[in-house]
This record gives sequence, structure tokens and C-alpha cells, in this order.
Amino acid sequence: MSIFQKCEGFEAAHMYEALGLYPYFHPIEEATATEARIHGEWKVMVGSNNYLGLTHHPKVLEAASKALYKYGSGSTGSRFLNGTLDLHYELEDRLAQFFKKEAALVFTTGYQASLGALATLIERDDHLFLDRLDHASLVDGARLGHGELHRYPHGDFDALRKQLSRLPPDANKLVVSDGVFSMEGSVVDLPRLVRVAKQHGAQVLIDEAHAVGVLGPDGAGTVSHFGLQDEVDLVLATFSKSLASVGGVLAGSETVIHWLRHHSRALIFTAAMPPSSVAGVLAALEIMQNEPERRERLWANTNKVAECLRSMGFDTGATSTPVIPVLIGDIEKTLHVWRVLFDEGVFSHPIVPPAVPQNACRIRVSMSAEHSDEQVERVLAAFARVARTMVTV
Ligand SMILES: Cc1ncc(COP(=O)(O)O)c(C=O)c1O
Repeated sequence: MSIFQKCEGFEAAHMYEALGLYPYFHPIEEATATEARIHGEWKVMVGSNNYLGLTHHPKVLEAASKALYKYGSGSTGSRFLNGTLDLHYELEDRLAQFFKKEAALVFTTGYQASLGALATLIERDDHLFLDRLDHASLVDGARLGHGELHRYPHGDFDALRKQLSRLPPDANKLVVSDGVFSMEGSVVDLPRLVRVAKQHGAQVLIDEAHAVGVLGPDGAGTVSHFGLQDEVDLVLATFSKSLASVGGVLAGSETVIHWLRHHSRALIFTAAMPPSSVAGVLAALEIMQNEPERRERLWANTNKVAECLRSMGFDTGATSTPVIPVLIGDIEKTLHVWRVLFDEGVFSHPIVPPAVPQNACRIRVSMSAEHSDEQVERVLAAFARVARTMVTV
């Protein structure tokens, strides 16, 4: 026996490659905000999370390149030591205001923000409650913590209530949920979640990864959409979606953020977010706040595509956001659909287990404010082709 035996026995990826159905790691040779050149052909990108289309905005690129020349190409150290720039503090101040919290802490990725928050806060005898469909980064953060993890069925607040009420009233409890569920596109019923949590003395953390730039009058996400800033204790977000960069943030009270700044291993034992990324996020935030018409365009594209897909007979599940799942069924069929779309010039994602249950495989489409009418039509035409060939795939 060898530790590598499992690697030698792993055949699935080769098998799908041989069938021309392998959808992962296709290298992008060049990109705009809405298209990618792959294997020499331009495809409309509906597989990114570039909701506001800011990755190629001239002001974002200019801010990033100025910072590159001012501070250098990398942070070469931890936030704790030599990695903190004045720009990190500027971004933290701006984000604290944006999320209406006292303070914020910037991590190198959104994933690390999840680990940095949950693994650090949840100590022995503390209890953490996660929706079954919460993002993997939250699950991993919870697993790294030393407290007890409870999962409740997706959106089932009666089940959450039962789990919470089994614990003594004075036990430490944190309820954690995605604001927008990343594979469903649905929005958490935050007023109910908050009510149940508060009735049981639990604190609340909301992950706004797919909600920033999308929901709320100012684009600040689900919490702002429901006006529950005072009831939600911690807000987590990433910069890898609407904010067109890479990095993550946790916003909350000054006391909690100060404690995490000095205890969070995911902050301390890794290099800081690089200067050009921080500057790019600062620019993207400003554009997002000054150009609300981008959000309007995003919603117009979203509503058009979702309605047309439904009228073609596709099941788009419970989505009410720019993340539009197109439910297909089993893996094979989903990969065939992905291939038809790819060949028609559309870059989408097949979502298969373990991200979703066996027979709930889907194509995930995500819309951008920058998709032109012509690109939207190309995407819809590709799906029309799928609808016509569906019986044979
Ligand atoms: C809901 C959610 N939280 C956290 C993350 C992690 O963010 P990042 O990709 O910036 O590490 C993601 C990324 O896909 C996400 O969808």
C-alpha cells in the first residue's frame, strides 16, 4: 500500500477528457470583462462572478498599476509584520463604513476571511450553526475551530430553532449563512434567521460574497437589502466577485475585529493582499458607489436571461439573483449540455457532486452588467440549441 494509491486509482478526469467532456482548467489566453479566448476562440463568459464587469474598468486598472509601481509587485510578508500598507487601512476604513460596522479586517482571500473568522472565534464549548448549503470556506473554517458544528437543512429555520433550543441559554452560539447561496442564486430569509438567532441569544454572521454589488440600495449586500445592519454582528465578503480583484474582509465591532487582528492565524501566518489588488478594490468600491446604473444593467440582463430560460422550459430553481442555475439532472447529461454551450461559444460551469447532490447537477450561469444585448442573445441562442438537442443528450 502507498499513500499515493488513491491518486493512481483516480480515473474520472481522464475518462471525461477522452470523451471531450472535461470542463475544468481550460486556460484563458486573453480576456475582456465579458469574453474569454480559450483554445483560440472567443466565448461569452457566463462562468465568472464579475457582476459589475469592473475587472477591465480603466480606473481600476489605473489604480492597480499605480500601486504596483509605488509599492512593488508583492507584499512579501504578513499583515502582522511588514505586509500592512496605508492602503490596507484605507480599505478597512472604507469597508467598515460601507457595511455600517465599527471596524473591518482585510484578508488575502475570501476563503481565508472565512477561516480567519470561524476557526479563530469558535473555541472549545462554543457552538456554530451553518445552513447545509453554506459555502465550503465557511464549512472549512468551522471544521478548523475547536467548537461544535451543527448543520441545519437549507433554509429550515424551524430545524435551526430546535437545534438552538437544545442548548443552555448561556451557551455561546453563532449562526452563519450565505446571503446569496452560490449554487442556487437564492437569497436567505434574513429577517427570519435573525429572529430565531436573537430569540436564542445567538450572534449572526452573513457571508455577502455574491451579494455585494448586487443587493441593497447601495450594493452593500443582503444585510443592507433587509436593513438589518444592527442585528447582524459580522459581515464577511470577498473581493473576487463584484469588486473585481482577490481578497476578503470581515466587518464587525471594534472589539471583535481588534481581537481577530491579533489572534487570527489565517491573517497572521500568510502574506498580505498585494498592493495592486488593494488599490484595485478601492477603485472598484468607488465606481460601484458612483455608478448605480451598473446595478440596474446587471438586473436587466439577469431578468431577461432568467425569464427567457424559463420560457424555453428550463428549471432555474429558486434563484432571484444574477446567479442562475439551470437544473439538468445527472452528471453525464450536465457535461453534455456544458459541451454544447461551449461549442456554441458560451463559457458556463457544470456544477456536479460534491458541490450539489447526485441528481441535482446543473449549469451555473452568472450575469454581468457589462454583457451587451448581443452577448445576451448569443447565450440565449446557445441554450435554445440545448433545448432542441436535450432529448438526445
Ligand atoms: C459564498 C462564498 N464565500 C466565500 C468565498 C471565497 O471567496 P474567495 O474566492 O475570494 O476566496 C466564495 C468563493 O467562491 C463564495 O462563493
